[in-house]
Amino acid sequence: MAHPGAWSTQQLAEFLAAVSSFDGEASAALGAVERAAEALDAEVVAIVRGGHVVASVGYPAGGAPAADLEAVARGVSHQLAVPGAGVCPATAVPLEYPPGATLILARSGSERLGPEEISLLHGMARATSLTMGMLRLLDDERSLRAKADRQAIEVGRLLARLTERQSKLEWLANEQAALRRVATLVASGVPDEQVFAAVAEGVSRVASADIVQMLRYEPDGSAVRVAAWDPQSQRLQIGARVPASELALQIAAPVVVEGRLWGVVAAVSTRPEPLAADAEQRVADFTELAATAISNAHARAELAASRRRVVTAADDVRRRIERDLYDGTQQRLVTLALKLRVAHDTVPDDLPELRDQLAPIEEELASLLDEIGEISRGLHPAILSKGGLGPAIRALAGRAAVPVALDVAVPERLPESVEVAAYYAVSEALANASEHANASAVEVHLEVVLGNLLVHVRDDGAGGADPGRGAGIVGLRDRVEALAGTMVLTSPLGEGTSMLIELPLGRG
Ligand SMILES: Nc1ncnc2c1ncn2[C@@H]1O[C@H](COP(=O)(O)OP(=O)(O)O)[C@@H](O)[C@H]1O
Ligand SMILES: [Mg+2]
Repeated sequence: MAHPGAWSTQQLAEFLAAVSSFDGEASAALGAVERAAEALDAEVVAIVRGGHVVASVGYPAGGAPAADLEAVARGVSHQLAVPGAGVCPATAVPLEYPPGATLILARSGSERLGPEEISLLHGMARATSLTMGMLRLLDDERSLRAKADRQAIEVGRLLARLTERQSKLEWLANEQAALRRVATLVASGVPDEQVFAAVAEGVSRVASADIVQMLRYEPDGSAVRVAAWDPQSQRLQIGARVPASELALQIAAPVVVEGRLWGVVAAVSTRPEPLAADAEQRVADFTELAATAISNAHARAELAASRRRVVTAADDVRRRIERDLYDGTQQRLVTLALKLRVAHDTVPDDLPELRDQLAPIEEELASLLDEIGEISRGLHPAILSKGGLGPAIRALAGRAAVPVALDVAVPERLPESVEVAAYYAVSEALANASEHANASAVEVHLEVVLGNLLVHVRDDGAGGADPGRGAGIVGLRDRVEALAGTMVLTSPLGEGTSMLIELPLGRG
């Protein structure tokens, strides 16, 4: 040691190096008091703050006299009772950090600290303040960073949850779309097979199943496959019979139609993991739609059958009236007309008044016969039964009050109910064209296309036909639909009227 100043600078440097190597405030404080005691050969060194001992050396563990130390810190006292050394002079140096803390040193012997020692103690106090302040900053930063990390984790978790929600939402939207598709098919009354196929596909989606089949139970306990979703192997045949014993199913939702167990929708996953727990409920939504479609189809079929019965019964009645008119009334009137002619011819020449009276009666009778002929033709034209649709339509066109352009290309005979419906359709359309349309021309077109008879009648009249205002078009539609046909009426005001009818030949 060259001189005391260099000596204390060296010591201060060592002190700073030692104290700053601690990584916590408490351990740094303890290190600081230990090093200070060593450097200045003191019995006691302590740091106090607000009546609380932050760190101390020279007292038994937990035995530092806080009140005495505080008194020295506040300058009230300048000595301390030191264990094993009696009362010793004490020196206090305030610390900048922690705020309000004081470094206290007590050394035995009467000798007070020299100026070099005092300045070393001050240097140590500054080094301690610096270190502890820095550690606090580091600590704060560490906890801030930990907090930031925690927040990052939390944000990550939130993001994950959001993503999960989103995919759940997409999943739900998907399910919704599949359900809507099936519901739309049900509502539009497409054939059951189309609904069933959509159900099978929809179920595969919502249940994440690889194979889905829809089976209708037969009375013998077996089942018939009515729809299948099996894109990988495509081995499930529609219409095939499935013995009950063969049905090893992962989930199965019953199809209940009007309270009766109609069939089942079965979904299978070929992957090892089981299907989702709520898959069954999801599948149930689809099977409900399928059941609705089935019961709608029943209702439609029953309605069509009952319409067919009504139309057929009405046709029978018309035919009977026509026969009665033709065989009975008309024949009698013809006989009467003949008798009248004979009477007319045998009236003596000297009774001209009588002859004059008979003449109008004869005319009346002739027009009555015409009228009855007209009526019976309208009821059930004999020409339709005898010659088929072509000649009957030509006869209609010939009698029409409006010029008719005919384009009839149909087989000689078609199913009777189809011929009758087509005949009434053309007859009604021609009557409307002359009664309501004020048309100058009508086109009539008949043709068989893909197993359907197409009947198209178009006039160039006023348009604005409204089935609600009469009975003709409504009755016609009933008749057409009873035969599972369709009718499209287009009649914009001022643009004429078009009536397009399609009648399937299969069910005639
Ligand atoms: N070709 C047509 N052109 C213009 N209006 C028509 C035509 N056909 C029908 N209409 C209108 O639609 C109504 C309904 O027709 P319809 O059902 O045949 O009953 P009806 O002929 O017994 O009045 C008619 O009363 C008429 O006002
Ligand atoms: Mg009419």
